[in-house]
Amino acid sequence: MTESAFLGKEYPDLINFSIGDPDFTTDERIINAAFTDAKNGHTHYTDLFGDPELREEICMYHHDVYHFQVGLDECLVTTSGSQAMFLALEAILDEGDEVIVPEPCFTPYPYQIRISGGKPVVLPTLEEDGFQPDMGRLKSLLTNRTKAMIINTPNNPTGVCYSRETLERIAQVAMDHDLMIIADDIYPLFSYAEPHVPVATLEGMRERTITIRSFSKDYAMTGWRVGYTLAPPFLTKMMEEINENNVFTAPSISQRAALHGLRMRNLVQPPLVEEYQKRSYYAYERIKNIPRMSVLFPQGSIYLFVNIKKTGLNSREVTTKLLHEAHVLVLPGYAFGASGEGYVRIALSVGLDKMGEAFDRISLMDIFSH
Ligand SMILES: Cc1ncc(COP(=O)(O)O)c(C=O)c1O
Repeated sequence: MTESAFLGKEYPDLINFSIGDPDFTTDERIINAAFTDAKNGHTHYTDLFGDPELREEICMYHHDVYHFQVGLDECLVTTSGSQAMFLALEAILDEGDEVIVPEPCFTPYPYQIRISGGKPVVLPTLEEDGFQPDMGRLKSLLTNRTKAMIINTPNNPTGVCYSRETLERIAQVAMDHDLMIIADDIYPLFSYAEPHVPVATLEGMRERTITIRSFSKDYAMTGWRVGYTLAPPFLTKMMEEINENNVFTAPSISQRAALHGLRMRNLVQPPLVEEYQKRSYYAYERIKNIPRMSVLFPQGSIYLFVNIKKTGLNSREVTTKLLHEAHVLVLPGYAFGASGEGYVRIALSVGLDKMGEAFDRISLMDIFSH
C-alpha cells in the first residue's frame, strides 16, 4: 500500500483507483461549524473518553438508527478507526492469543495483531461462497488460544456485505467458544445489498463485541482522523487508559467536526451514497464487458474486487501492466493476503468521467482482449 503512493508519478494522465480516500472534500458546513468551534475555544485536550457532546450524540445516533441503547460509559472517541483497532487488540490480547481474520482483509490487521502480541489466524473466504466466511472452516481454526475474530462488513477489499444469517452464525460460534468479536464497521453507510446490521445488536453479542466506527468514509473525513469504539464499560475503560498513555485524547477540532457531521448526517450523507452507488454500478457494467475480467455484483463499501485469473497472470503482474500500459493504478489482490491472489482492487475514488476513460484504456489492453 505504501508502495502504491509512489507508483505512477511519471504519468501525468494517471487515473488512481488505488486508495480508499474519497475525492470529495468534507462538506463545507461541517468544516465551517468546526472552524467556528475552534475560534470559540475548542482547541484544548478534551475529556479523556472524548468530547462529551460528541459521545452523547453518538449514543443518540445508535439509538435512533439501530434502536441500540448505548451508555456513555460504553463509548470512547479515538484518533481514527485504525487507532481504535490498535486499542481494541491491545486491550484484549495476551501474548500468543490467536485472532481469526477472514481474508482477503484490510492490510494492517495481521500487522496490528502481531504488534499487540497476538497471532493472526487466516480464514480464507472464497468468491464461490460470495466471500462469506464458511462456518466449518471457521470452526476448524479454533484452538484454546483463540481470543477473538475480526469482521468487516461491508468489506474492504471484496465489496460484499455479510448476510444477517452469516452474522448470526458467527455470533453463535463466538458465544459457543467464548470469543470476542471486533466489528470493524467502517462502511455502514455504503451497504447497498441490505441494511447494515451491527453484530453488537444481535442477541447475546453486546458483551462480547467491540464495535469500531470511523468518520473517514461515511462522512468523507479521512484527514480529520476521528472514530470511536463501543464496548462493555470495563473494556472501554481499559482502552481509554491505553489511549491516555498513547495520544491522551483525539484532536478536539476533529471531534467537533465529527459532532457536526453526525448532526447533519441527513444532509451530508445522501449525496455520498448516491455518488458511490452510481460509481459502483457503472464500474460493474464496464467490467462485465471486458473479457478476462469479472466481478461480483456490488453489494457495499467503496471497492470492487476484480477477478483477473483468466489473464493467466498474477495480481502483481496485472497491476504493473495496468499501470504502464493504461496508466491506471489499482492494488494487487495479494496486498490483502494470499487469498486475494487472482484479483485486483479498484477503489471508487474518481468520478464517472475518469472511470469511463480508465475502462476505455483497459479495454484496449492485450491481456484483456479476446
Ligand atoms: C476496513 C477498514 N478498516 C479501517 C480503516 C481505517 O479507517 P480510518 O481512516 O478511520 O483509520 C479502513 C480504511 O480504509 C478500512 O478499509
